[in-house]
Amino acid sequence: MAGRIMLVSAICTAILLYFFQANNCPQPSSLDLSLHFPLHFTFPIFTGYKYNTMLIQTLLVPRLLKHMSMASTLHLFLVLGSLMVASAGNFYKDFDITWGDGRAKMLNNGDLLTLSLDKASGSGFQSKNEYLYGKIDMQLKLVPGNSAGTVTAYYLKSPGSTWDEIDFEFLGNLSGDPYTLHTNVFTNGKGDREQQFHLWFDPAADFHTYSILWNPQRIVFSVDGTPIREFKNSESIGVPFPKNQPMRIYSSLWNADDWATRGGLVKTDWTHAPFTASYRNFNAEACVWSNGKSSCASNSASSTSSNGAWFSQELDSTNQNRLKWVQKNYMIYNYCTDTKRFPQGLPAECRIS
Ligand SMILES: *[C@@H]1O[C@H](CO)[C@@H](O)[C@H](O)[C@H]1NC(C)=O
Repeated sequence: MAGRIMLVSAICTAILLYFFQANNCPQPSSLDLSLHFPLHFTFPIFTGYKYNTMLIQTLLVPRLLKHMSMASTLHLFLVLGSLMVASAGNFYKDFDITWGDGRAKMLNNGDLLTLSLDKASGSGFQSKNEYLYGKIDMQLKLVPGNSAGTVTAYYLKSPGSTWDEIDFEFLGNLSGDPYTLHTNVFTNGKGDREQQFHLWFDPAADFHTYSILWNPQRIVFSVDGTPIREFKNSESIGVPFPKNQPMRIYSSLWNADDWATRGGLVKTDWTHAPFTASYRNFNAEACVWSNGKSSCASNSASSTSSNGAWFSQELDSTNQNRLKWVQKNYMIYNYCTDTKRFPQGLPAECRIS
């Protein structure tokens, strides 16, 4: 430590002396310098000024330059480090606001994102990255109070006309009436796989975690770690599974009072506008897709070990029981039991799970 202080003192003194000499400035008094630098260094310099200026020019200056570049590199690292810490507030780093003309906001250094909806417009955001498989968590706090007619959508989707999509949609309701959590899975542009739930808590009172686990074997929707829906890979019986099309994360808050609440019977009450939904604590353990390549190992022999446990995660018996509990007590619609809707027979994946 003392050595470093001496080195710094030497550098500073050398800069000053070099500057004064080069510009023919009056010599600073040793008192002036000793106020700024430790005595043990100013003393030898001022006892033999000529010797020392020579020393400074022949020895110290080249070293000084070397140390200065080290110091500025160090400084650069410190600056970069603080920038990296600042951008760890994750919404700035991972998302772009895409519409809503100022109605969507990133707040608290990017720790919080809010969407709002008024009579003129809703708002939305999307992830910067595209993902092909992942375990993606987001905490949402939905529009409180009378949210009838509003829809907060949070989903993964690939582009194009034969897209894949994994949906969470929160359909608002009158104060005191429960939100409906609507889920769907699209493969190659075809959905019609709705399952709807009420929740075991008020999703507008606080933040709760909504997760999508998407790996080559299954898609699992979870709420606060409790699985509510599983869509298994059923390619073996001819059901397409999302596995080739990278998806982006999207979210939006918009008015859908033509259908959302009690099938469109209850309209949005604009006297309560603006409506606001909030997001925080985004976390993705995922395979990021860029330039036609995945960040994950594709070789199936090595993928499980190197990609993380989520890549091969399945529901253990505890989670299977929790899934059954939710489906028994909170599911309000299941396409797999809607025989009226599918007079030709239920979709193939409904017959195996
Ligand atoms: C709103 O509340 C009604 C009455 O409890 C309920 O039937 C309905 O599922 C709720 N959700 C929506 C989106 O209508």
